[in-house]
Amino acid sequence: VKVVALYNIKGGVGKTSTAVNIAYLAARDGFRTLLWDLDPQGSASYLLDVEPRVKGGGRALVVGRRSPREAVRPTAIDRLDVLPADFSFRNLDLELDGTQNPTKRLRRLISPLRTRYDVVVLDCPPSASLVSESIIRASDVLLVPLIPTPLSLRTFERLTEFVATVPGRPARVVGFWSMVDRRKRSHRDLVTDTRRHLPQMRPIAVPSLTAVEMMAEHRLPVPLVAPASPATAAYEQLWGCLRETWS
Ligand SMILES: Nc1ncnc2c1ncn2[C@@H]1O[C@H](COP(=O)(O)OP(=O)(O)OP(=O)(O)O)[C@@H](O)[C@H]1O
Ligand SMILES: [Mg+2]
Repeated sequence: VKVVALYNIKGGVGKTSTAVNIAYLAARDGFRTLLWDLDPQGSASYLLDVEPRVKGGGRALVVGRRSPREAVRPTAIDRLDVLPADFSFRNLDLELDGTQNPTKRLRRLISPLRTRYDVVVLDCPPSASLVSESIIRASDVLLVPLIPTPLSLRTFERLTEFVATVPGRPARVVGFWSMVDRRKRSHRDLVTDTRRHLPQMRPIAVPSLTAVEMMAEHRLPVPLVAPASPATAAYEQLWGCLRETWS
């Protein structure tokens, strides 16, 4: 199984939108895929029309009283399941803190799912906490959406440095541009000035388009809502890049 986390310390950068679209593309291409919604907001669950509720709450999962296999829900899309979030996930940090080896916990929780899925996509809450470290240790790839500003490159650099300090097998960090507005000069300049990019940045830019926002209305991924949209093309490119990363 390959574990891909949509991760950024910042909120509202396109993590959930990307997680849903990447998970869809993986399932479409024949991979048995699980999208694990780790955000108490439950947006990924919502976008795929899955009831955001986990019996016993996130706690039962984290302390091992309930297996993630029991909490998995099917979606309308073949080969795509969701492990929904609920509001109890807001305490995930505290719950993790109470377990032994909290930063290894998520990795262990994914373990029994290894035979059932080829790809696990983690939709992460925006933070840099115990949950994050657990996520980093559980992931093969950290996929990081960056809105084009000089500050986000700085945050990305910090993140790359931090990942290198996390014990265990290191996760690959892959950055890409998100919510790119070509009408803004600053966006165009930053996206095209590759000299300023870090080696972990991929030259992929998801444009800021209504098609992406429409996901919430149709509760479907972008390639199904707007197959001809440049946003679909960008997500396909990102998915292609991911497959290359682990092949
Ligand atoms: N490429 C895009 N073009 C237009 N709107 C977008 C794009 N990507 C995301 N959005 C919109 O921006 C908002 C935030 O996106 P999203 O939920 O994917 O970000 P997030 O990083 O998961 O946020 P959070 O940190 O709150 O979990 C949503 O309303 C979404 O529809
Ligand atoms: Mg989100």
